[in-house]
Amino acid sequence: FAALRDVSQSGAPLYLQLKKNIEEAVKRGLIGPGDALPSERDIAAQADISRVTVRKAVQDLVKSGVLVQRHGSGTFVAPRMERVEQSLSRLTSFTEDMARRGMAARSQWLDRGIYTASPDEMMVLGLSASELVSRLSRLRIADETPLAIERATISASVLPDPHEVTSSLYMALGKTGHRPVRAVQRISAVNLGEAEAQLLAVPIGSACLQIERISYLASGKVIEFTKSIYRGDAYDFVAELRLPG
Ligand code: GLP
Repeated sequence: FAALRDVSQSGAPLYLQLKKNIEEAVKRGLIGPGDALPSERDIAAQADISRVTVRKAVQDLVKSGVLVQRHGSGTFVAPRMERVEQSLSRLTSFTEDMARRGMAARSQWLDRGIYTASPDEMMVLGLSASELVSRLSRLRIADETPLAIERATISASVLPDPHEVTSSLYMALGKTGHRPVRAVQRISAVNLGEAEAQLLAVPIGSACLQIERISYLASGKVIEFTKSIYRGDAYDFVAELRLPG
């Protein structure tokens, strides 16, 4: 834990310097997933700072998912996530995917409302200016672990009240005969900014996968335009490849 001792005088608040040092120690593998952190008292003594300062740094790292606290037994480096293997050839919903794995899916609503379509939404959903859309932004959680942030847009002519979606969007669409049957998905790599990292309980700058899904009805009409951010430490996307022709 030499890194913890090295709380320098760089001018930044002490708790931020300590936080950075602990993050660095985790990143460099000096302390690994599941390892116990020394007690608050020991860290304070080693770094010659107050216990209040140590507590503030530790609490911030617990909030961002770097550390976990277990009552009675102390503070540990967060264990590595068990990865979710997600097929790229099946058009399924988050709720269905998690149910298949025996996990309970739930969402924390970030936004749910009716808006005037943005230029992007107009283009993708084939809407004209001033047409309305339902936007649904959710943090997707499985067995209490946040896995993804999803921002879905559906034309308001199909979903006039976004509050009709209580748990599963695809289930709600299915009820009115609008369950998509085909989708095109684009996956790109991004690093998480502060707000998103906090929602997903991972360190700022963590690698993640940005997924854009445009899905279609059997008629060929676009029904859904969704931008999602999936935790890079939690997902493997798997596709089966065949010889062309
Ligand atoms: C996946 C897709 C989203 C889709 C969602 C529907 O997560 N990436 O594009 O909107 O499933 O999930 P649910 O029906 O559970 O709301």
